[in-house]
Amino acid sequence: MNYRFAYAVGFHPWEDAEGDPPFAEKISEMFDREESGREPPYGPALDLGTGSGIWGVQLAKRGWQVTGVDIVEKALRRAHDRVKSAGVDVRLVHGDVTALRKAGVGSDFQLVLDTGTFHGLNRAQREAMGREISAVAASEATVLLLVWPRRRRPLIRGASRSEVEAAFPGWKVTDVEASHFHPPKILELLLKPDEHWYRLRRE
Ligand SMILES: C[S@@+](CC[C@H](N)C(=O)[O-])C[C@H]1O[C@@H](n2cnc3c(N)ncnc32)[C@H](O)[C@@H]1O
Repeated sequence: MNYRFAYAVGFHPWEDAEGDPPFAEKISEMFDREESGREPPYGPALDLGTGSGIWGVQLAKRGWQVTGVDIVEKALRRAHDRVKSAGVDVRLVHGDVTALRKAGVGSDFQLVLDTGTFHGLNRAQREAMGREISAVAASEATVLLLVWPRRRRPLIRGASRSEVEAAFPGWKVTDVEASHFHPPKILELLLKPDEHWYRLRRE
């Protein structure tokens, strides 16, 4: 997937997930679980491949101190606009998820969110992303990854459970749950996303 080109031509169907009530309810339930029994502020959260910042802004509204990182500058410009109009505080960083320390994202993140970056990467990149997350996440952190299953399809390669596990040595998959996202019918037929949330905690 060439994200730079996609943003340049205004192709970003993943943003439709925000207006899909079953998906929005499910992601909210995922966040509720991490906040359960606590009061805001919840601590540092890292939104990987933040895009236009939809979910980073949601986390900030809920009381997380959010850093969003993306490799595409146009996406970050859109995220800046969204953050400004939402009136929240989100730090936006231009960087690669496979080199988070070099990008200067910070450390000690309690929550690491990825809604759609990991499963587009090749094996070496996925493993680098896992290593970098391990380096910047707090010892009690949760990682939430939205993953399409591995399948022959255009644009997104997907990842199997064993590929998730291989990229995160030292972490345990605690839950795998359907995201309930319903893309437009044509994308459903073409891409068969069947996406799931992977929740990981350190072993
Ligand atoms: C499917 S989009 C999801 C965007 C956003 N999380 C959302 O749900 O609206 C994947 C995002 O990952 C970003 N991305 C892809 N590869 C990346 C990399 N190696 N480092 C940082 N960001 C990357 C893309 O630019 C894009 O914004």
